[in-house]
Amino acid sequence: MTSPAPLVLGIESSCDETGVGIVRGTELLANTVSSSMDEHVRFGGVIPEIASRAHLDAFVPTLQEALSTAGVTLDDVDALAVTSGPGLSGALMVGVAAAKAVALATGKPLYAINHLVAHVGVGVLDGGTLPSSLGALLVSGGHTEILRVNSLASDIELLGATIDDAAGEAYDKVARLLGLGYPGGPVIDRLAREGDAKAIRFPRGLTLPKFLGTAEAPGKHRYDFSFSGLKTAVARCVEQYQARGEEVPVADIAASFQEAVVDVVTKKAVMACTEQGLENLLLGGGVAANSRLRELLAARCASAGINLRIPPMGLCTDNGAMVAALAAQLVMNGVRPTGIGFSADSGQPVSQISL
Ligand code: KG4
Ligand code: ZN
Repeated sequence: MTSPAPLVLGIESSCDETGVGIVRGTELLANTVSSSMDEHVRFGGVIPEIASRAHLDAFVPTLQEALSTAGVTLDDVDALAVTSGPGLSGALMVGVAAAKAVALATGKPLYAINHLVAHVGVGVLDGGTLPSSLGALLVSGGHTEILRVNSLASDIELLGATIDDAAGEAYDKVARLLGLGYPGGPVIDRLAREGDAKAIRFPRGLTLPKFLGTAEAPGKHRYDFSFSGLKTAVARCVEQYQARGEEVPVADIAASFQEAVVDVVTKKAVMACTEQGLENLLLGGGVAANSRLRELLAARCASAGINLRIPPMGLCTDNGAMVAALAAQLVMNGVRPTGIGFSADSGQPVSQISL
């Protein structure tokens, strides 16, 4: 007799979204998210202290709403899970403390989950299984990574990551430079449609031969990203127009900037999959909403024979359902729970799927 699929409640608080998700095995029952984004708007980026306080206010109502949406009680839950890292320390600590409190009060087992791996794990909610031979491209305000998924429950490898800003962070900083407000991604995405992506040739970070190496002898940064030089190039470009007293061509800059980001991200992800023999690629993170990224990635994956999978947007951005989904996989694979003797780890490596 097969045991019934576990009912798992997942908690996410690594950045500015307080998320509580509930799954039964690979079935999504609730995905409740409260975002503090509006409170960060006037600063043009996430302020950790404000995010932490917002998690504290939002946790109990978010938990109650998720339980009511799923039509279950804490008593029904088989296991609890929480993001332990990577992320903002203070923000993580609020979710971790809340999860430990719920675990203590209910006596349920608790899993401390890796946020990046959870972005991949969410893929099981969108079709029941993940394909084998899988790579993942994660692009958000906090991360830009290429992963190799050997086994979701036990073996994940980091192939490449940003060495400075995350892709979404670059969108947010460039939007601020152009006076477009926060978050920058959606507005640049929209404006770029009215501009000429070839108007300005912005730099493509870490794509020179000395960084890429060759397929036989890969360079140190073959699959890594860098966006801070691009951000500086946009700043210089804006300054030059202003110094000449000319109107800044905001739409052309937005389109050219976006093309530089999306060109590098898609090229490196497809190169990694091709060279590592990965036939499938899962896209995750808030920047997955970008229309040009979706278009170019789909085209480049199709020409390389890679199967592209993009979960629904509500599962791509940070949420608790992804934490629950990954923990359910761990439960079903017999991985032991973490217990409550652990701390949030803002730098938790991707190889540490759970603590
Ligand atoms: O995953 P996410 O919701 O949260 C965190 O990173 O915490 O991602 C948010 C990021 C922001 O940097 C935002 O500017 C970016 O995703 N973003 C976009 C788009 N929509 C959101 N970037 C580019 N194009 C978009 N359409
Ligand atoms: Zn994330």
